[in-house]
Amino acid sequence: MKVIVTENYEEMSEKAAQIIIDIVKNNPNAILGLATGSSPVGTYQNMIKDHKENGTSYKNVKTVNLDEYVGLTADHDQSYAYFMRANLFDGLDIDLKNTNLPCGSAPDAKKECDRYNALLETMKQDVQVLGIGSNGHIGFNEPDTPFDSVTHLVDLTENTIKDNSRMFASIDDVPRQALSMGIKNIMQAKSIVMVVSGKNKAKAVYGMVKGEITPACPASVLQLHPFVTVVCDKEAASLL
Ligand code: GLP
Repeated sequence: MKVIVTENYEEMSEKAAQIIIDIVKNNPNAILGLATGSSPVGTYQNMIKDHKENGTSYKNVKTVNLDEYVGLTADHDQSYAYFMRANLFDGLDIDLKNTNLPCGSAPDAKKECDRYNALLETMKQDVQVLGIGSNGHIGFNEPDTPFDSVTHLVDLTENTIKDNSRMFASIDDVPRQALSMGIKNIMQAKSIVMVVSGKNKAKAVYGMVKGEITPACPASVLQLHPFVTVVCDKEAASLL
């Protein structure tokens, strides 16, 4: 696991974006695994800036996202489908038909998970972007999710509901369930870029990088992956 410690969020975002941009430049047909949350927003802004200034093209790039809230349609402004358009896709020349997320409003969650798993089998991510929850979750794989899990329906923990409530008008509006790629789907990526910033993530970062490899800290599984780059600011790295 390679750990790059940066001065701040801006430098973290530039460094992480450069890794992804280089992958796309080397392989215009790259498959990008993408994440939501506030951590990758700056990374995505740098990718858009590079696309506009240097013409890096995403015309033939395909994407798969980690997760989606259950019950939110793609046009709901808190859905991850909406987030991805607003924070990345609308700023690139990507064909929206090449972008994939689990559908949170599918009538049958089990069927939707099966569909997404079958899709992921045909789409091995060249790079998977990740953030980390303060309890060490990746995607929405909460503590004690088995390492061999695939896309599944998740009951969100109180901790995650509270963390994510800042994006919603009230905590009551936060969906209680999500569909998430499993840990096995994440680990199939050829490479992984984890972006982390802030002191509230320091404990989770310690667990991921130096802690015991255990489902109690889902991100610790990344110690078993051969190509992981953690780009974190010095506050997130403060316990390393
Ligand atoms: C959510 C997402 C995760 C993300 C985490 C951290 O729970 N499902 O993929 O990593 O939040 O979010 P943030 O980057 O906003 O701290």
